Amino acid sequence: MPGRTELPAWKALAAHADAFANTHLRDLFAADPERGERLTVEAVGWYFDYSKNRVADDTLRLLVDLADACGLRTRIEAMWRGEKINSTEQRAALHVALRAPAGEKFTVDGADGACNDVVPEVHATLARIVDFSERVRDGTWRGFTGKPIRAIVNIGIGGSDLGPVMACEALRHYSRRDLTFRFVSNVDGTDFCEAMRDLDPAQTLFIVSSKTFTTHETLANARAARTWLLRALGDECAVGRHFVAVSTNAPEVAKFGIDPANMFGFWDWVGGRYSMDSAIGLSTMLAVGADNFRAMLGGFHAMDTHFRHAPFAHNLPVLHALLSVWNTNFLGVESVAILPYDQYLKRFPAYLQQLAMESNGKRVTQEGARADYATSPVYWGEPGTNGQHSFFQLLHQGTRRVTCDFIGFRASLNPLGDQHELLLANLLAQAKALAFGKTAAQVRAEGSPDRLVPHRTFDGNRPSNVLLAERLTPASLGALVALYEHSVFVQGVIWDIDSFDQWGVELGKQLAARIVPELHDANLPLAHDSSTNALIRRLRKT
Ligand code: F6P
Repeated sequence: MPGRTELPAWKALAAHADAFANTHLRDLFAADPERGERLTVEAVGWYFDYSKNRVADDTLRLLVDLADACGLRTRIEAMWRGEKINSTEQRAALHVALRAPAGEKFTVDGADGACNDVVPEVHATLARIVDFSERVRDGTWRGFTGKPIRAIVNIGIGGSDLGPVMACEALRHYSRRDLTFRFVSNVDGTDFCEAMRDLDPAQTLFIVSSKTFTTHETLANARAARTWLLRALGDECAVGRHFVAVSTNAPEVAKFGIDPANMFGFWDWVGGRYSMDSAIGLSTMLAVGADNFRAMLGGFHAMDTHFRHAPFAHNLPVLHALLSVWNTNFLGVESVAILPYDQYLKRFPAYLQQLAMESNGKRVTQEGARADYATSPVYWGEPGTNGQHSFFQLLHQGTRRVTCDFIGFRASLNPLGDQHELLLANLLAQAKALAFGKTAAQVRAEGSPDRLVPHRTFDGNRPSNVLLAERLTPASLGALVALYEHSVFVQGVIWDIDSFDQWGVELGKQLAARIVPELHDANLPLAHDSSTNALIRRLRKT
């Protein structure tokens, strides 16, 4: 297949973008009074308004052509068939199997060469975490001294932290308020010490979450946790009542001293950043209970089904992805602001940073050639309305091109006077202001002094998406996460990259491993560059 930029569909989009360069969103809306209703799609309770993107009907048709030319349909089916679409690691990426109802079939090639249906294992593990979390929640599972568990500490990093902490925050409304949840990820001792300060070891349960069980941050924190526990309880046997693990690596879990009976597994075909609905979500289940967790899986699955079957032109994740490609590759947008207008989604931007940038922040194609086009934009964000009083200035009048994803809910989980209407009004106002701006003529007509006219003018024409659902529930959260998972996958297909590996994190890990002893031992000779050498000398203890 020719390189992406050689595809006729890519070239057609490039030509279309040139012809479109001077078209303003104001013109597009003026020319089509139905645009705001027409350029929308609704799926699984999520309403997606993409009318404020700089697109015409032709653009959408050409983008679907590009998806076809890149073999998107085949790639989706390859994912569903459990093919090794993570080509550099020779693994399937079958997170959709994690939310498959019992009876559906998903197969992967086993080590023995046999084709195994993974759904029974998925449900067996689900049953185990349901059983365990119910025993903790109802007080049957007790700590070493016989007291019930009151605090749950998830120790993990990356996908073994960001999904669980995001979901626990997002579903706090549904969670057990008499249980305390903490998440320790950073190797910085401050993270652990601050999380532990007010916890009672006799009533604390640690979940050590690590796909590989070799991640040094997680193991360092897990060792600190064991020391903290044993210092208080004084008996090695206490570990069995206060530590469980979620991992794919049973031997390493056992080596650490956690009873394999207290380990919940998952599989190499689940990428870390795609794992919040596996046993990695144990903390979420402990917080919200099995029924809510199952409802979340139901939301994921409903979006999976929509993604697999809906025609591309009406497919929410596909459209979301194609618009991102359009903005990134043809309109020069460099970053995406994730703006949830819901405080419970405060960790959603951080979660999406890993999902999107660890998946698609790559500069080589599947075949190892250097991509001659942009790949993942930079993701960042904050809940509205806080962001409005910080970085929105740049969104409205800065020189950078940013796409905004506004996410909101019609009904609040915490109605407080008219504050929800105030919140939603702000969401709508920001999207409108970005799209339509304010012309110099409008500013003058408001009586502004001439010298301030340029300062008060808003160019507008800044793209945004609006995603709305009725209410933040476990099911709507699951559907939202699945939407972004699939959008990220589709973008990776268009960019011809492996969205499921992460080689770019390796070099820093290797160098850190070399530097650790050099910081400890002032006598070790240093052979780095002069900057690193000088910094090490400055930071050495002695
Ligand atoms: O270093 C990156 C990474 O491998 C992520 O992909 C992963 O989510 C994270 O580290 C944690 O890995 P593990 O779950 O194996 O501890």
